[in-house]
Amino acid sequence: MISTQRKVIIIGSGISASVVAIDLCKYKEVVMITKGLESNNTIRAQGGIATVVNETDRWQYHYEDTLHAGYHTNNSEAVKLLVRSGQRYIKDWINQGFPFDRDHKGKLLIGKEGAHRDQRILHAGGDETGRRVLDFLHKQIQENVKVLSEQTVTQLIVENNECIGVEMIDCKGHVSIMYANDVVLATGGCGGLFEVTSNHRSVMGEGFSLAYYAGATLSDLEFIQFHPTLLWKNEHSFGLVSEAIRGEGAQLVLENGERVMKDEHVLEDLAPRDIVSRNIEKLRRAGFDVFLDISMIKNFQKKFPTITNLCEKANVDLTKGIIPVAPGAHFSMGGVATDLQGRTEVKNLYAVGEVACTGVHGANRLASNSLLEALVFGKEVAKAIKDSPTSAKEMNLKRSKTDVTHEAKRIALPSVQVLRQKMNKYVGIYRDGLGLRFMKQWLESFDLHRRIHTIPPSQKKMYHQTMAAWLIVTSALARTESRGAHYRHDHPISKAGLEQYHIKRRRSIHKPQMIAGG
Ligand code: SIN
Repeated sequence: MISTQRKVIIIGSGISASVVAIDLCKYKEVVMITKGLESNNTIRAQGGIATVVNETDRWQYHYEDTLHAGYHTNNSEAVKLLVRSGQRYIKDWINQGFPFDRDHKGKLLIGKEGAHRDQRILHAGGDETGRRVLDFLHKQIQENVKVLSEQTVTQLIVENNECIGVEMIDCKGHVSIMYANDVVLATGGCGGLFEVTSNHRSVMGEGFSLAYYAGATLSDLEFIQFHPTLLWKNEHSFGLVSEAIRGEGAQLVLENGERVMKDEHVLEDLAPRDIVSRNIEKLRRAGFDVFLDISMIKNFQKKFPTITNLCEKANVDLTKGIIPVAPGAHFSMGGVATDLQGRTEVKNLYAVGEVACTGVHGANRLASNSLLEALVFGKEVAKAIKDSPTSAKEMNLKRSKTDVTHEAKRIALPSVQVLRQKMNKYVGIYRDGLGLRFMKQWLESFDLHRRIHTIPPSQKKMYHQTMAAWLIVTSALARTESRGAHYRHDHPISKAGLEQYHIKRRRSIHKPQMIAGG
């Protein structure tokens, strides 16, 4: 039966997808399409959600700290919306019973993380904030949202610059098409493109490529944050070790106990992430191992159960009071360019959360602003869709069909392992023109600029991942300076006056352009 209600497809299953789904399902038919309800980065979030709680604190301080961490490359209106609305929505969550951690008197426990001037990080279950958030949200969508799991979206269907649906493929290789009035990309960032990452392995930047193909503009893709501390053992990463640990007093040290951040920044171990990551990477390249000294933290296992589990898996003995760490790809500040309500330049196509770029994070995200971003801008996207006039697209909904067959020949693409290794090596914490140009050439050897219907559906996922890598590499090449998380050995200085210049990408233009303003 064909529904006459306005239909919304949301691609993704993390916090931003869930917030949009919850707010819209009272008014619209909502379908969530996802690789899996736990295939997202939300579930891995440890530290928490940043918002002003202390009486001594002000939203203006949170605003300033966000701009400062972002090297003033941020869209200041987006930051204002983030910190002001965020406070209100977090209060709503508390009133709805979200279980933020409290002390024995019932007072909220607030942590501290890098580059925040005050304690501002609310958390749940110690370092299980992301899982608790997802449980809280997924419970609310259970009955009212249709979830199509184990599906990978392979194409956004666009007619006359209007998004009218998606093509997807399931794990058995069946291809289907679903039409909708509105489509929301909430697919997360691109950490999975790198060999060493805190991200879920399935999060590989496909949203960037899907939007690029659909005709949307992408912005700031060169700004990828590397988290300073992933648990590192036997040349292998075991996952995130939250910055909240340093907020509790942990210190980065060398094997001989020498402090790593002592004379590097006034905030020492709680300096902005880009600075801490670069310093650790420099030391590791010089042959030093780096550790977090946690010996001063009381009740570590109770406060940080997730990290305790990771240490057990990695055979790290916590009684020794040190955890071996290394930096890894963590968060994309750039993404699909949107306005403050998540609208892209393609009609009825929205983007939200890490896949989107409102400009809120600038060149380097402030700690624990990502869950807040997803909450605030998820609400904005839901409002925009709810209020948008119904177009005469009901006809399209009748065209939903399954088992589309394609007879395109297989194409040459890289293996995912090699792609990840090369991204880590040439597009990591330290970059330079030589390495980036090598990567560009290598990626272009796969004939990426072909028409999408010439790619067999079973290869489209890998195609989009490769294309996402190309978009990142060419954006990084186009920014011939260092700023925030984007550091180039061959251009180590931030050029004065470029704070509000952005590397923008659009398929019709092909080459990245540096453009002033949001
Ligand atoms: C962390 O807990 O260190 C990560 C939180 C974030 O990415 O902001």
